[in-house]
Amino acid sequence: MTIHSVASTPYAGQRPGTSGLRKKVSEFLQPGYLENFVEAIFQTIGDCRGQTLVLGGDGRYFNRTAVGVILQMAAAHGVGRVLVGQGGILSTPAVSCVIRKHAAFGGIVLSASHNPGGPEGDFGIKYNIGNGGPAPEKITEALYLYTQTNALYRISDAAVPDLDTVGVSRIEQMDVEVIDPVSDYAELMASLFDFAAIKALFAGGFTMRFDAMHAVCGPYAHAILEGMLGAPAGTVINGTPLEDFGGHHPDPNPVNAAELIAEMFGAAAPDFGAASDGDADRNMIVARGLAVTPSDSLAIIAANAKLAPGYRAGLAGIARSMPTSTAADRVAKSLGIPCYETPTGWKYFGNLLDAGMVTLCGEESYGTGSSHIREKDGLWAVLFWLNLLAASGKPAATLVREHWATFGRNYYSRHDYEAVDAQAAEAMMAHLRGQLGQLAGRQLDGFTVALADDFVYTDPVDLSVTSKQGVRIVMTDGSRIVFRLSGTGTEGATIRLYLEKYEADQARHAIDPQQALAGLATIAANLSQLKTRTGRDHPTIVT
Ligand code: G6P
Ligand code: ZN
Repeated sequence: MTIHSVASTPYAGQRPGTSGLRKKVSEFLQPGYLENFVEAIFQTIGDCRGQTLVLGGDGRYFNRTAVGVILQMAAAHGVGRVLVGQGGILSTPAVSCVIRKHAAFGGIVLSASHNPGGPEGDFGIKYNIGNGGPAPEKITEALYLYTQTNALYRISDAAVPDLDTVGVSRIEQMDVEVIDPVSDYAELMASLFDFAAIKALFAGGFTMRFDAMHAVCGPYAHAILEGMLGAPAGTVINGTPLEDFGGHHPDPNPVNAAELIAEMFGAAAPDFGAASDGDADRNMIVARGLAVTPSDSLAIIAANAKLAPGYRAGLAGIARSMPTSTAADRVAKSLGIPCYETPTGWKYFGNLLDAGMVTLCGEESYGTGSSHIREKDGLWAVLFWLNLLAASGKPAATLVREHWATFGRNYYSRHDYEAVDAQAAEAMMAHLRGQLGQLAGRQLDGFTVALADDFVYTDPVDLSVTSKQGVRIVMTDGSRIVFRLSGTGTEGATIRLYLEKYEADQARHAIDPQQALAGLATIAANLSQLKTRTGRDHPTIVT
């Protein structure tokens, strides 16, 4: 067993995006590509000699190989112990949970989240710090700088131990502790929610369909929903993680989870439906005949949080990403608690959570979570809803409609234009930015612009400033148009257009969202010149 220093050539483009480094598998297969990035992690996270790290991924293609390489490199860098999920598997929320529970130095998550997997698909790697959350920008930027010049990595040639059996073995001086991926996480969930009430709900004949989309949430959902909570077998579908997610796009939204949507809108729909993504941090909630928007889900959870034992003391505050609808702001106002608006990316919630300023966080991109960990958490959101359904005794659709009746409805939709020419997309954003100074006060098709800016966030805890986070045009009635470029795409640029219209009148709460938002969509098309600049006349995906 020898530790080698291997000469390597730096690769361009290893800058972590919204959520770590995500690239095509083919890029990761280049010699030294993964190793260079992992070396940069070890060089920038601080002295981790003798420390504990957590390691696991969503089981996609290349997961196992990468786990082996990272273990050999961790040993070469003097790490004391690595807690690795059995089979190399740990969901993103489970990594966060295990880091916190075992007070680890940090952890490495292997996932490209909802992006397709398999040899032709994507792979990803992300470093999480000791609070269990994604590394802040100062670490990821230092890491990127390091990758640009790094010409060496260190690795042990010791064999990778058996990852399929729970137990402890060694590489060099380092303990490799293979852990059950589910148990710590399941224990945390049981401490937050009224498992007895949910169990009684299922025992009373309540039916549910949970679509794990052939991804990593499968084992967690089987163990918790069907195991601990007694939901009938078959409640969880697509529950075995596959390296290529069965060829599907493991993204829980009405477009990609079409099978679940069809069932929930059909005559024999179960009482409740839900889905999660590739690494189990995203969720979609579906009532009978009604897909709940992530923005509404956050607001409804917030409004009813006290029904769950873990949240009985009330909420310190709520945070949402800027493009997420303002439905949660209305709840926060009625609860007399603050609501923070952050840039897109879960990492921006970290400081607010650590400082105890917020309890719940959510994003329009099907992410919801709380202070229990430092990642968004798909199954947590589903269990929260089950707790609300059990405690209120009401169907999910009734909870949603009653919420709208109390707070008003924030009609919401996101239009994605994927794989657009990157230069054309940048030019469109520049064109929008160029108009911002002249928009305030202008009348546009029945709306009056109250504010137009390129979102800048000043973190209230460390006062760091993040700029250029998306163009937002806010109308005097609270309606909004937001444009930004995705930070997670792997092909060209993805333009995201977010539309939101507030409707207080209960008599107008049953309009088709696309119809309710059509006026705003036209304004957005005109202001951006999207069609002429990108050659696209309709979005790739509408959610
Ligand atoms: C990931 C991140 C989220 C983010 C989402 C969309 O899931 O964890 O925080 O909201 O990607 O990001 P994007 O930059 O593609 O809009
Ligand atoms: Zn994810």
